[in-house]
Amino acid sequence: MSWNIASFEQELLSFLPPNEPLTQTVINAMRYSLTAGGKRIRPLLTLSFASLCGGSEAAAMPFACAVEMIHTYSLIHDDLPCMDNDDMRRGKPTNHKVFGEAAAVLAGDGLLTLAFETVLSERAVTLNGYEKCVKAGHLLSACAGAQGMIGGQIIDMESEGRTVSAEHLAAMDRKKTGALIKAACLLGCISAGADEPQTQAAARYAECIGLAFQMVDDMLDELSDEATLGKPIGSDKKNQKSTYVTLLGLEECRQRSISLTEEAIESLSVFPQGTETLISLARQLCDRKK
Ligand code: IPE
Ligand code: IPE
Ligand code: MG
Ligand code: MG
Ligand code: MG
Repeated sequence: MSWNIASFEQELLSFLPPNEPLTQTVINAMRYSLTAGGKRIRPLLTLSFASLCGGSEAAAMPFACAVEMIHTYSLIHDDLPCMDNDDMRRGKPTNHKVFGEAAAVLAGDGLLTLAFETVLSERAVTLNGYEKCVKAGHLLSACAGAQGMIGGQIIDMESEGRTVSAEHLAAMDRKKTGALIKAACLLGCISAGADEPQTQAAARYAECIGLAFQMVDDMLDELSDEATLGKPIGSDKKNQKSTYVTLLGLEECRQRSISLTEEAIESLSVFPQGTETLISLARQLCDRKK
């Protein structure tokens, strides 16, 4: 599989509507966050599973872009003063700091809807067929919505300042972070027309790395520094968030993220070959510094 962040970003921008004089504020705000950098893990997962399951990268690309659009919108809204109230994201001032709160809310809304325009675009349909596009759109909306990521965000907000159980945290993180990571993996499977055992393996891999991913995010909020992370550290403490770090402490959190990573890797054993990218990605995510 060939992966190049710069060419992925070109693809991402190719779906952005052109500037029009009357609407340029919102398009500029959308472009600002889409091009602000970021690790682009979710689209890499989509493309990796598509090629692992025998599909084509070109066909999976609109799905990969759609997932990154939803992720980017979720970060714009997550940073708003009424949510986590953070000033830096991906090494740049947050969207609302540059464009104001109203435009930031609308830029998020614009990216969310653009994601579905992209999944159902002529390009996506030509390369995947209607049936796969409908399936992808359905799965992506379910994972991004109130049963998925948005559900996780409300649990997160309502857990501020409280002591919550490990089960509560797991439910929150499965939705808040895990659901979109799962969508990213499964959209690759859908594009490739993966069979049931392949799809189940992808879902298991996603569940494990999804939970590990949020654990590492919570640890980095304590251990990293803003220059490396591109976003403020100590944000969780400031907002009295309930995280795995507050519940288990850093060491136990690290151990669990390592075992989840190994479990993710084991789930790939149904694939006879071609799993190297996904194996090293799982390990990199666990060891990441940003
Ligand atoms: C940050 O996600 C938000 C979480 C779900 C923890 P990423 O760490 O993938 O953010 P970017 O895309 O690299 O900026
Ligand atoms: C954000 O979780 C999850 C979503 C945006 C859905 P966090 O609030 O921990 O993410 P960061 O740390 O701000 O990136
Ligand atoms: Mg948050
Ligand atoms: Mg946040
Ligand atoms: Mg965080």
